[in-house]
Amino acid sequence: MKIEVKKWVDIFAWLEETWKRYGEEFQDWFYSIRGKWTPLEKIEIDGIQIYLKREDLQPVGGLKYRTVAGLIHLRRDELEGKTVTTATSGNFGKALGYLARKFGFDVEFYVLKKRVDPIIRKVFSRMGELVEVPETGYCPLTGRDGGRAITNAMIQGEQPGYVYLDQHNDPRNAFGPFLTGVEIAEDIEEDEITFVMGVGTTGTIRGVTAGLRYSFGKESRCRGRASRKFQADRSQKQSRTGKFKTVQRGGEHSGNSRSTGR
Ligand SMILES: Cc1ncc(COP(=O)(O)O)c(C=O)c1O
Repeated sequence: MKIEVKKWVDIFAWLEETWKRYGEEFQDWFYSIRGKWTPLEKIEIDGIQIYLKREDLQPVGGLKYRTVAGLIHLRRDELEGKTVTTATSGNFGKALGYLARKFGFDVEFYVLKKRVDPIIRKVFSRMGELVEVPETGYCPLTGRDGGRAITNAMIQGEQPGYVYLDQHNDPRNAFGPFLTGVEIAEDIEEDEITFVMGVGTTGTIRGVTAGLRYSFGKESRCRGRASRKFQADRSQKQSRTGKFKTVQRGGEHSGNSRSTGR
């Protein structure tokens, strides 16, 4: 039997290409569905100037609004008339429920019974169908936190009339947050920034850094730093904060080759 080995996909090249093709129409559409160009708010702590990107101002209060909007934009033909399944415990589900109502499709939210927050339980029950998955047992498909909720959502998503929306592994999750990088690059004055965010599935940081690189110019570099302690002991819920530094190198910081694609 011949096993076909898929070619490795360069996520950043794919993102840039997809942005060039669909970025402009996505931007217009995103802002038309109450997505915000969120402000950068300047604060100072111990003499250090920090810009806060106010993603809490997105509808339903979180950055996953962009992730879900990006996925819906890229997959809208597949979603029409279907019931969407997803595994979520928070912001992704809230954004999906909100946008599903707007675009007329149904959602099944797969959550881990023991871990779901009571308020989230109520919110998801109002937005669609809540499926509580027992946490016990071996999860053959994923090694992740919440693996059994993910597996159940994936399997149901294979059934006729269903589509699985994957917030954990789908590279298209980075498409919506690409716009965040484009917005930040447009709004800041500096040629060099240090960008810091919490990281979970990494979809957001991939999108934002790709958007920053696209806007600052090809010569710029994004370098990542993550807490080793967190990686070594996820189960003890170490800090999820990683630091990601973006440095403009092109022409020894000379010139500003930003282009927002707008
Ligand atoms: C405030 C905040 N920061 C960071 C993240 C992590 O994003 P990602 O899962 O795309 O890495 C999330 C995810 O929901 C979030 O809500």
